[in-house]
Order: sequence, then structure tokens, then C-alpha cells
Amino acid sequence: MAEDQFSLFSTGDAPTQREMANSSAVDFDTIPTDGSVPILPGVYPDLTTLGNHCRGCQRCGLAHTRTNVVVSRGSPTAPVLIIGEGPGQQEDEQGRPFVGKSGQLLEKILASVRFDTEQDVYICNIVKCRPPDNRVPTAAEVAACKGYLLEQIRLVDPKIILLTGATALKSLLGVKSGISKVRGQWMEWEGRLCMPIFHPAYLLRNPSRDKGSPKWLMWQDIQTVRAKVDELSGN
Ligand code: URA
Repeated sequence: MAEDQFSLFSTGDAPTQREMANSSAVDFDTIPTDGSVPILPGVYPDLTTLGNHCRGCQRCGLAHTRTNVVVSRGSPTAPVLIIGEGPGQQEDEQGRPFVGKSGQLLEKILASVRFDTEQDVYICNIVKCRPPDNRVPTAAEVAACKGYLLEQIRLVDPKIILLTGATALKSLLGVKSGISKVRGQWMEWEGRLCMPIFHPAYLLRNPSRDKGSPKWLMWQDIQTVRAKVDELSGN
């Protein structure tokens, strides 16, 4: 079965993913299970289809150890799209991103500048399945999953993307700098406004609120983001 799916996309005569996406009968069962075969931009008509397909994904080895695929939560029309590294244990169990301790802190950070997590943000991860023992996802796992993320960004079309932590920054923008050096800086990627910020898990390990501490810096950054969203929406 997997080989049939793979060969469908590797023969010259077979329809490409884009041709299939543009045709009225899209058979998403034929999206390649081999993670090295890319998911092309524009293949998903909407986020619901993406989510349904993603939940059956077998594109990398994480499919064997996950409990649930963790696609997203929040609003599909949000102005702010937040990207984490990958699901942890609680997220794997519940099938929703950022629902554990890091997620609770993220909620507080967002609420502090009146961002409603159901309306104002769309939250997802670089990889949609939990890496065992919460290890950093491998380059191959990131690559296998990247098409989903790029499609999420295209379909949500946010005004601002927030990259939480070094893995998110490196995996999407290819920027390898330490997060402490670049957090709070606006960056442009594919015509989109992005900002790297500390990962909430890092803030949990560094609880000081003193001036200049990671938590204090996060407070500056999220206020900058709030101001930019207001500016871009004409408020
Ligand atoms: N950490 C992440 O990066 N993502 C989650 O969904 C949870 C914890």
C-alpha cells in the first residue's frame, strides 16, 4: 500500500498532488507516506481537510509512538499564529497543543495583553506528533511535517507569526541564533512578519520576574506584539 502511494507520485504519468488538488476529486489517501516526498503548497482546500489528513499521517517514525496527532487549537482566522516545537505528554494524550504547564503559562502571557486564545491566536507546532521523552525533533521529522505547517500558515494567513524557542525559529526560518540573542526582533519570512520569543518551558525554568529576566523580557515582547496587532488592524 505504502509503495503504491509512493509510486503514484514518482512516475511521470501519474497526476501530481497539485493536479489532484485542483481537480474536483481529491483523494487525500494518496498523499505520500514517505516523508521525503513533499506535500506541495495549495494541496489542502481548508484546515479541516488538512487536520483530517494529518490525523492519519504516517510520514515519519513518530507515527509509531504517538497517542494522538496534535494539529492545532485556536481560531482559523486568527491574526497571530504561534508555533511551538512539538507536543509533550499532555498534548499527546489530549490531541491539543500547549495544554500542559507550558500551555497554561502561554495562556497567562496572552491574557495579559487581552489575547483570547479562542479568537485571537492559532496555536500549532513544528512537528504534530510527540517525540519520545520530549526530545528535540530530528531534521527528518521536521522535514516530513513541514508541509502541514506551511499549509497551516497559508490557510490561516496570520498577520504575525510567533516562534517559541530555538527549534521553531530554526525549523521555519532557518535561523540558528540562540533565542536570547534574537527574541523580540521582528523578522520577515516569505513576506510575513515573524518574531522569535522565549519558549514558555524556558520561562518555567527561569521564574524570576526581575527587570531583564526572561519573564520580564517576554512581557516586553508580548506588549510589542499586541501593539503591532492593534496597529495592523487599525485600532
Ligand atoms: N511545548 C511545545 O513546544 N508545544 C506544545 O504543544 C507543548 C509544549
